Amino acid sequence: METVTVSLGDRSYPIYIGAEVLPEVGGLSRSFSLSGRGVLITNPVVGPLYSQRVLSSFEQTGIALTPLEVPDGEEFKSLQAAAALYDRILPLGLDRRSPIVALGGGVIGDLAGFVAATFMRGLPLIQIPTSLLAQVDSSVGGKVGVNLPQAKNMVGAFYQPCLVLSDVRCLRTLPPREFRAGLAEIVKYGVIADKAFFEWLEANAAAILSGDQGAVIHSVETSCRIKAAVVERDERDEGMRAVLNFGHTVGHALEAATGYSELSHGEAIAIGMVVAARISCQMGLCSEEVPFRLERLLQQIGLPTGLPVDPENIVNAMGYDKKLRDNMNYFVLTKDLGAVTVAPILDPLQALQSLR
Ligand code: NAD
Ligand code: GLY
Repeated sequence: METVTVSLGDRSYPIYIGAEVLPEVGGLSRSFSLSGRGVLITNPVVGPLYSQRVLSSFEQTGIALTPLEVPDGEEFKSLQAAAALYDRILPLGLDRRSPIVALGGGVIGDLAGFVAATFMRGLPLIQIPTSLLAQVDSSVGGKVGVNLPQAKNMVGAFYQPCLVLSDVRCLRTLPPREFRAGLAEIVKYGVIADKAFFEWLEANAAAILSGDQGAVIHSVETSCRIKAAVVERDERDEGMRAVLNFGHTVGHALEAATGYSELSHGEAIAIGMVVAARISCQMGLCSEEVPFRLERLLQQIGLPTGLPVDPENIVNAMGYDKKLRDNMNYFVLTKDLGAVTVAPILDPLQALQSLR
Protein backbone atom coordinates (compact mmCIF):
# COMPACT_ATOMS: atom_id res chain seq x y z
CA MET A 1 0.00 0.00 0.00
CA GLU A 2 1.32 3.47 -0.91
CA THR A 3 0.94 6.43 1.45
CA VAL A 4 0.84 10.12 0.59
CA THR A 5 0.67 12.61 3.46
CA VAL A 6 -1.13 15.92 3.26
CA SER A 7 0.91 18.05 5.68
CA LEU A 8 -1.25 20.70 7.29
CA GLY A 9 0.04 20.86 10.85
CA ASP A 10 -2.46 19.38 13.29
CA ARG A 11 -4.87 18.78 10.38
CA SER A 12 -2.39 16.56 8.49
CA TYR A 13 -3.69 13.24 7.20
CA PRO A 14 -2.63 10.16 5.24
CA ILE A 15 -3.95 9.03 1.86
CA TYR A 16 -3.59 5.25 1.51
CA ILE A 17 -3.63 3.85 -2.02
CA GLY A 18 -3.61 0.19 -2.98
CA ALA A 19 -5.49 -2.79 -4.39
CA GLU A 20 -7.93 -4.78 -2.20
CA VAL A 21 -7.34 -2.41 0.69
CA LEU A 22 -10.99 -1.76 1.70
CA PRO A 23 -10.85 -4.39 4.49
CA GLU A 24 -7.99 -2.46 6.09
CA VAL A 25 -9.86 0.78 6.67
CA GLY A 26 -11.03 -0.08 10.19
CA GLY A 27 -7.51 -0.92 11.38
CA LEU A 28 -6.08 2.20 9.74
CA SER A 29 -8.64 4.31 11.62
CA ARG A 30 -7.60 2.99 15.05
CA SER A 31 -5.24 5.86 15.82
CA PHE A 32 -8.00 8.51 15.63
CA SER A 33 -9.72 7.52 18.92
CA LEU A 34 -13.12 7.28 17.28
CA SER A 35 -16.28 6.34 19.16
CA GLY A 36 -17.98 3.01 18.75
CA ARG A 37 -20.80 4.38 16.62
CA GLY A 38 -20.80 6.25 13.31
CA VAL A 39 -22.39 6.55 9.89
CA LEU A 40 -21.52 5.29 6.40
CA ILE A 41 -22.91 7.49 3.61
CA THR A 42 -23.10 5.94 0.15
CA ASN A 43 -25.50 5.53 -2.78
CA PRO A 44 -27.50 2.63 -4.29
CA VAL A 45 -24.87 2.04 -7.02
CA VAL A 46 -21.76 1.89 -4.86
CA GLY A 47 -23.33 0.64 -1.61
CA PRO A 48 -24.31 -2.86 -2.77
CA LEU A 49 -20.83 -3.34 -4.29
CA TYR A 50 -18.59 -2.19 -1.45
CA SER A 51 -20.45 -1.27 1.78
CA GLN A 52 -20.23 -4.69 3.36
CA ARG A 53 -16.44 -4.84 3.28
CA VAL A 54 -16.22 -1.39 4.88
CA LEU A 55 -18.85 -2.13 7.54
CA SER A 56 -17.16 -5.43 8.50
CA SER A 57 -13.76 -3.81 8.69
CA PHE A 58 -15.01 -1.16 11.14
CA GLU A 59 -16.98 -3.78 13.06
CA GLN A 60 -13.75 -5.72 13.63
CA THR A 61 -12.27 -2.64 15.32
CA GLY A 62 -15.37 -2.18 17.49
CA ILE A 63 -17.08 0.56 15.45
CA ALA A 64 -20.68 0.00 14.33
CA LEU A 65 -21.53 2.13 11.31
CA THR A 66 -25.14 2.77 10.29
CA PRO A 67 -25.31 2.71 6.48
CA LEU A 68 -27.31 5.55 4.91
CA GLU A 69 -27.98 5.83 1.18
CA VAL A 70 -28.53 8.97 -0.87
CA PRO A 71 -29.92 8.50 -4.40
CA ASP A 72 -27.27 8.54 -7.14
CA GLY A 73 -26.70 11.77 -9.04
CA GLU A 74 -25.29 15.29 -8.94
CA GLU A 75 -28.80 16.67 -8.20
CA PHE A 76 -28.61 15.03 -4.77
CA LYS A 77 -25.54 17.07 -3.82
CA SER A 78 -28.00 19.55 -2.35
CA LEU A 79 -29.04 21.26 0.86
CA GLN A 80 -32.20 19.12 0.82
CA ALA A 81 -30.14 15.91 0.71
CA ALA A 82 -27.94 17.20 3.55
CA ALA A 83 -31.03 18.07 5.63
CA ALA A 84 -32.48 14.60 5.00
CA LEU A 85 -29.21 13.10 6.26
CA TYR A 86 -29.23 15.26 9.43
CA ASP A 87 -32.77 13.94 10.11
CA ARG A 88 -31.60 10.35 9.80
CA ILE A 89 -28.39 10.87 11.80
CA LEU A 90 -29.97 12.76 14.73
CA PRO A 91 -31.78 9.76 16.33
CA LEU A 92 -28.56 7.69 16.22
CA GLY A 93 -27.16 9.55 19.24
CA LEU A 94 -23.68 10.19 17.85
CA ASP A 95 -21.00 12.04 19.80
CA ARG A 96 -18.10 14.32 18.82
CA ARG A 97 -15.78 11.38 17.97
CA SER A 98 -18.33 9.50 15.83
CA PRO A 99 -16.97 9.06 12.29
CA ILE A 100 -18.79 9.98 9.10
CA VAL A 101 -17.50 7.64 6.38
CA ALA A 102 -18.04 8.67 2.74
CA LEU A 103 -18.08 5.74 0.30
CA GLY A 104 -18.60 6.77 -3.33
CA GLY A 105 -17.61 9.21 -6.04
CA GLY A 106 -17.16 12.96 -5.70
CA VAL A 107 -20.87 13.60 -5.19
CA ILE A 108 -21.02 11.40 -2.09
CA GLY A 109 -17.62 12.67 -0.87
CA ASP A 110 -18.61 16.34 -1.15
CA LEU A 111 -22.08 15.81 0.39
CA ALA A 112 -20.98 13.51 3.23
CA GLY A 113 -18.03 15.84 3.85
CA PHE A 114 -20.42 18.78 4.13
CA VAL A 115 -22.55 16.83 6.61
CA ALA A 116 -19.42 15.89 8.59
CA ALA A 117 -18.28 19.54 8.65
CA THR A 118 -21.62 20.84 9.87
CA PHE A 119 -23.38 18.19 11.99
CA MET A 120 -22.64 18.94 15.67
CA ARG A 121 -20.15 21.54 14.29
CA GLY A 122 -17.89 18.85 12.92
CA LEU A 123 -17.37 15.10 13.14
CA PRO A 124 -14.32 13.09 12.01
CA LEU A 125 -14.51 12.47 8.25
CA ILE A 126 -13.12 9.38 6.50
CA GLN A 127 -13.10 9.48 2.70
CA ILE A 128 -13.25 6.21 0.74
CA PRO A 129 -13.39 7.47 -2.86
CA THR A 130 -14.54 4.89 -5.42
CA SER A 131 -14.39 6.86 -8.70
CA LEU A 132 -11.07 7.76 -10.32
CA LEU A 133 -11.95 11.46 -10.15
CA ALA A 134 -12.68 11.20 -6.44
CA GLN A 135 -9.44 9.26 -5.81
CA VAL A 136 -7.24 11.84 -7.53
CA ASP A 137 -9.12 15.04 -6.81
CA SER A 138 -12.29 15.49 -4.75
CA SER A 139 -11.37 13.37 -1.71
CA VAL A 140 -8.10 15.28 -1.23
CA GLY A 141 -7.81 18.87 -0.06
CA GLY A 142 -10.85 19.39 2.13
CA LYS A 143 -13.30 21.14 -0.17
CA VAL A 144 -16.74 19.89 0.84
CA GLY A 145 -20.09 21.30 -0.15
CA VAL A 146 -23.36 21.21 -2.01
CA ASN A 147 -24.82 22.85 -5.10
CA LEU A 148 -27.49 25.53 -5.26
CA PRO A 149 -30.02 25.29 -8.09
CA GLN A 150 -28.37 28.40 -9.62
CA ALA A 151 -24.74 27.32 -9.32
CA LYS A 152 -22.54 24.34 -8.49
CA ASN A 153 -20.49 24.10 -5.27
CA MET A 154 -21.78 27.44 -3.97
CA VAL A 155 -22.26 26.40 -0.32
CA GLY A 156 -19.52 24.59 1.52
CA ALA A 157 -16.45 24.61 3.71
CA PHE A 158 -12.81 23.70 3.90
CA TYR A 159 -12.90 20.61 6.11
CA GLN A 160 -10.05 18.13 5.93
CA PRO A 161 -10.69 14.41 6.39
CA CYS A 162 -8.69 12.49 8.98
CA LEU A 163 -7.96 9.72 6.49
CA VAL A 164 -8.44 8.91 2.79
CA LEU A 165 -8.36 5.32 1.57
CA SER A 166 -8.35 4.64 -2.19
CA ASP A 167 -8.82 1.07 -3.34
CA VAL A 168 -8.08 0.95 -7.06
CA ARG A 169 -9.94 -2.38 -7.31
CA CYS A 170 -13.16 -0.37 -6.97
CA LEU A 171 -12.38 1.25 -10.32
CA ARG A 172 -13.08 -2.04 -12.11
CA THR A 173 -16.83 -1.45 -11.79
CA LEU A 174 -16.64 2.21 -12.78
CA PRO A 175 -18.28 3.02 -16.17
CA PRO A 176 -15.53 3.70 -18.79
CA ARG A 177 -16.73 7.26 -19.38
CA GLU A 178 -16.29 8.01 -15.66
CA PHE A 179 -12.83 6.42 -15.74
CA ARG A 180 -11.83 8.74 -18.59
CA ALA A 181 -13.16 11.73 -16.58
CA GLY A 182 -10.66 10.87 -13.84
CA LEU A 183 -7.91 10.49 -16.42
CA ALA A 184 -8.56 14.05 -17.63
CA GLU A 185 -7.73 15.29 -14.12
CA ILE A 186 -4.63 13.07 -13.99
CA VAL A 187 -3.37 14.59 -17.25
CA LYS A 188 -4.07 18.01 -15.70
CA TYR A 189 -1.59 17.26 -12.87
CA GLY A 190 1.14 16.46 -15.38
CA VAL A 191 0.57 19.72 -17.24
CA ILE A 192 0.41 21.96 -14.18
CA ALA A 193 3.28 20.52 -12.16
CA ASP A 194 5.27 17.58 -13.49
CA LYS A 195 6.61 17.18 -17.03
CA ALA A 196 8.16 13.79 -16.24
CA PHE A 197 4.74 12.54 -15.08
CA PHE A 198 3.17 13.88 -18.30
CA GLU A 199 5.77 11.94 -20.28
CA TRP A 200 5.12 8.84 -18.16
CA LEU A 201 1.41 9.21 -19.00
CA GLU A 202 2.21 9.47 -22.73
CA ALA A 203 4.12 6.19 -22.45
CA ASN A 204 1.62 4.42 -20.16
CA ALA A 205 -1.85 5.63 -21.21
CA ALA A 206 -2.63 2.29 -22.83
CA ALA A 207 -1.60 0.37 -19.70
CA ILE A 208 -3.80 2.56 -17.50
CA LEU A 209 -6.74 2.18 -19.89
CA SER A 210 -6.33 -1.60 -19.86
CA GLY A 211 -6.55 -1.54 -16.03
CA ASP A 212 -2.90 -2.38 -15.29
CA GLN A 213 -2.95 -2.21 -11.50
CA GLY A 214 0.60 -0.92 -11.02
CA ALA A 215 0.09 1.83 -13.60
CA VAL A 216 -3.22 2.90 -12.06
CA ILE A 217 -1.75 2.99 -8.55
CA HIS A 218 1.23 5.03 -9.75
CA SER A 219 -1.03 7.53 -11.51
CA VAL A 220 -3.32 7.92 -8.47
CA GLU A 221 -0.38 8.25 -6.09
CA THR A 222 1.46 10.84 -8.22
CA SER A 223 -1.74 12.85 -8.70
CA CYS A 224 -2.39 12.86 -4.95
CA ARG A 225 1.20 13.95 -4.27
CA ILE A 226 0.83 16.88 -6.66
CA LYS A 227 -2.55 17.92 -5.26
CA ALA A 228 -1.28 17.57 -1.68
CA ALA A 229 1.69 19.85 -2.44
CA VAL A 230 -0.64 22.52 -3.85
CA VAL A 231 -3.09 22.26 -0.93
CA GLU A 232 -0.24 22.47 1.58
CA ARG A 233 0.80 25.81 0.07
CA ASP A 234 -2.69 27.28 -0.29
CA GLU A 235 -5.25 25.32 1.69
CA ARG A 236 -7.99 27.94 1.48
CA ASP A 237 -7.74 28.70 -2.22
CA GLU A 238 -6.46 32.25 -1.84
CA GLY A 239 -3.80 32.09 -4.53
CA MET A 240 -1.85 29.32 -6.19
CA ARG A 241 -4.48 26.58 -5.57
CA ALA A 242 -6.13 28.14 -8.63
CA VAL A 243 -3.67 26.14 -10.79
CA LEU A 244 -5.84 23.08 -10.03
CA ASN A 245 -8.46 24.75 -12.20
CA PHE A 246 -6.41 24.39 -15.38
CA GLY A 247 -8.94 23.78 -18.16
CA HIS A 248 -11.87 24.48 -15.83
CA THR A 249 -12.72 28.08 -16.89
CA VAL A 250 -13.75 26.94 -20.35
CA GLY A 251 -14.66 23.44 -19.11
CA HIS A 252 -17.28 24.66 -16.62
CA ALA A 253 -18.68 27.09 -19.18
CA LEU A 254 -18.92 24.27 -21.72
CA GLU A 255 -20.83 22.09 -19.25
CA ALA A 256 -23.26 24.97 -18.65
CA ALA A 257 -23.55 25.89 -22.34
CA THR A 258 -24.37 22.29 -23.27
CA GLY A 259 -26.98 21.89 -20.51
CA TYR A 260 -24.90 19.57 -18.27
CA SER A 261 -25.97 16.57 -20.34
CA GLU A 262 -24.06 16.41 -23.63
CA LEU A 263 -20.53 16.46 -22.19
CA SER A 264 -19.29 14.75 -19.03
CA HIS A 265 -17.20 16.87 -16.63
CA GLY A 266 -14.02 15.11 -17.79
CA GLU A 267 -14.82 15.67 -21.45
CA ALA A 268 -15.48 19.37 -20.84
CA ILE A 269 -12.22 19.71 -18.90
CA ALA A 270 -10.28 17.96 -21.66
CA ILE A 271 -11.55 20.48 -24.21
CA GLY A 272 -10.95 23.33 -21.73
CA MET A 273 -7.33 22.27 -21.19
CA VAL A 274 -6.60 22.22 -24.92
CA VAL A 275 -8.25 25.64 -25.38
CA ALA A 276 -6.19 27.09 -22.49
CA ALA A 277 -2.97 25.64 -23.94
CA ARG A 278 -3.76 26.97 -27.39
CA ILE A 279 -4.55 30.45 -26.02
CA SER A 280 -1.23 30.31 -24.11
CA CYS A 281 0.53 29.47 -27.33
CA GLN A 282 -1.16 32.35 -29.19
CA MET A 283 -0.05 34.70 -26.41
CA GLY A 284 3.53 33.56 -26.91
CA LEU A 285 3.71 31.91 -23.46
CA CYS A 286 4.59 28.43 -24.73
CA SER A 287 5.58 26.58 -27.87
CA GLU A 288 3.17 24.74 -30.23
CA GLU A 289 4.48 21.52 -28.75
CA VAL A 290 2.43 22.00 -25.56
CA PRO A 291 -1.11 22.02 -27.06
CA PHE A 292 -0.01 19.43 -29.64
CA ARG A 293 1.18 16.85 -27.10
CA LEU A 294 -1.70 17.59 -24.72
CA GLU A 295 -4.28 17.07 -27.48
CA ARG A 296 -2.56 13.88 -28.65
CA LEU A 297 -2.55 12.38 -25.15
CA LEU A 298 -6.19 13.29 -24.47
CA GLN A 299 -7.23 11.80 -27.81
CA GLN A 300 -5.30 8.63 -27.01
CA ILE A 301 -7.33 8.38 -23.82
CA GLY A 302 -10.54 8.79 -25.82
CA LEU A 303 -11.41 12.31 -24.68
CA PRO A 304 -12.72 15.01 -27.03
CA THR A 305 -10.57 18.07 -27.72
CA GLY A 306 -12.53 20.26 -30.19
CA LEU A 307 -14.99 23.02 -29.27
CA PRO A 308 -18.57 21.70 -29.77
CA VAL A 309 -20.27 25.14 -29.43
CA ASP A 310 -19.66 28.70 -30.59
CA PRO A 311 -17.24 30.87 -28.56
CA GLU A 312 -20.13 33.31 -27.88
CA ASN A 313 -22.03 30.60 -25.97
CA ILE A 314 -18.96 29.74 -23.92
CA VAL A 315 -18.21 33.34 -22.97
CA ASN A 316 -21.87 33.91 -21.99
CA ALA A 317 -21.69 30.90 -19.68
CA MET A 318 -18.50 32.11 -17.94
CA GLY A 319 -20.43 34.53 -15.67
CA TYR A 320 -20.74 32.30 -12.60
CA ASP A 321 -17.15 31.13 -12.64
CA LYS A 322 -15.49 31.44 -9.22
CA LYS A 323 -12.33 32.64 -11.00
CA LEU A 324 -14.21 35.77 -12.09
CA ARG A 325 -12.48 38.55 -10.15
CA ASP A 326 -12.86 42.29 -10.76
CA ASN A 327 -15.13 41.26 -13.63
CA MET A 328 -12.25 39.59 -15.46
CA ASN A 329 -11.89 35.92 -16.34
CA TYR A 330 -8.69 34.41 -15.01
CA PHE A 331 -7.21 31.56 -16.99
CA VAL A 332 -4.59 29.04 -15.97
CA LEU A 333 -2.12 29.27 -18.88
CA THR A 334 0.72 26.96 -19.86
CA LYS A 335 4.33 28.09 -19.95
CA ASP A 336 5.55 24.56 -20.68
CA LEU A 337 4.46 21.01 -19.90
CA GLY A 338 4.71 21.01 -16.10
CA ALA A 339 4.60 24.79 -15.65
CA VAL A 340 1.61 27.12 -15.56
CA THR A 341 0.71 30.67 -14.62
CA VAL A 342 -2.59 32.38 -13.78
CA ALA A 343 -3.51 35.52 -15.73
CA PRO A 344 -6.59 37.54 -16.64
CA ILE A 345 -7.86 37.34 -20.20
CA LEU A 346 -9.27 40.76 -21.01
CA ASP A 347 -11.24 39.68 -24.06
CA PRO A 348 -12.04 35.95 -23.80
CA LEU A 349 -14.33 36.07 -26.86
CA GLN A 350 -11.55 37.41 -29.04
CA ALA A 351 -9.12 34.82 -27.57
CA LEU A 352 -11.51 31.97 -28.35
CA GLN A 353 -12.42 33.28 -31.80
CA SER A 354 -8.77 33.55 -32.73
CA LEU A 355 -8.40 29.78 -32.29
CA ARG A 356 -10.85 28.89 -35.04
P1 NAD B 1 -20.09 10.83 -9.11
O1 NAD B 1 -19.87 10.86 -7.67
O2 NAD B 1 -21.44 11.23 -9.62
O3 NAD B 1 -19.71 9.39 -9.65
C1 NAD B 1 -19.92 9.10 -11.02
C2 NAD B 1 -20.82 7.87 -11.19
O4 NAD B 1 -20.04 6.70 -10.91
C3 NAD B 1 -22.01 7.83 -10.23
O5 NAD B 1 -23.09 7.24 -10.89
C4 NAD B 1 -21.49 6.91 -9.11
O6 NAD B 1 -22.54 6.30 -8.39
C5 NAD B 1 -20.68 5.94 -9.90
N1 NAD B 1 -19.62 5.25 -9.19
C6 NAD B 1 -18.71 5.76 -8.33
N2 NAD B 1 -17.83 4.81 -7.98
C7 NAD B 1 -18.18 3.69 -8.62
C8 NAD B 1 -17.64 2.39 -8.69
N3 NAD B 1 -16.52 2.05 -8.05
N4 NAD B 1 -18.29 1.45 -9.43
C9 NAD B 1 -19.40 1.79 -10.13
N5 NAD B 1 -19.95 3.01 -10.14
C10 NAD B 1 -19.33 3.94 -9.39
O7 NAD B 1 -19.04 11.77 -9.90
P2 NAD B 1 -17.48 11.98 -9.70
O8 NAD B 1 -16.97 12.24 -11.05
O9 NAD B 1 -16.87 10.93 -8.87
O10 NAD B 1 -17.43 13.34 -8.86
C11 NAD B 1 -18.00 14.51 -9.39
C12 NAD B 1 -18.30 15.45 -8.25
O11 NAD B 1 -17.08 15.77 -7.58
C13 NAD B 1 -18.92 16.76 -8.66
O12 NAD B 1 -19.99 17.08 -7.80
C14 NAD B 1 -17.80 17.76 -8.48
O13 NAD B 1 -18.26 19.07 -8.18
C15 NAD B 1 -17.05 17.17 -7.34
N6 NAD B 1 -15.65 17.57 -7.22
C16 NAD B 1 -15.22 18.01 -6.01
C17 NAD B 1 -13.91 18.37 -5.85
C18 NAD B 1 -13.42 18.80 -4.51
O14 NAD B 1 -12.28 19.28 -4.39
N7 NAD B 1 -14.20 18.62 -3.47
C19 NAD B 1 -13.01 18.29 -6.92
C20 NAD B 1 -13.48 17.82 -8.14
C21 NAD B 1 -14.80 17.46 -8.28
N1 GLY C 1 -10.63 20.74 -7.42
C1 GLY C 1 -10.04 22.00 -7.14
C2 GLY C 1 -9.53 22.14 -5.73
O1 GLY C 1 -9.54 21.21 -4.96
O2 GLY C 1 -9.13 23.21 -5.38
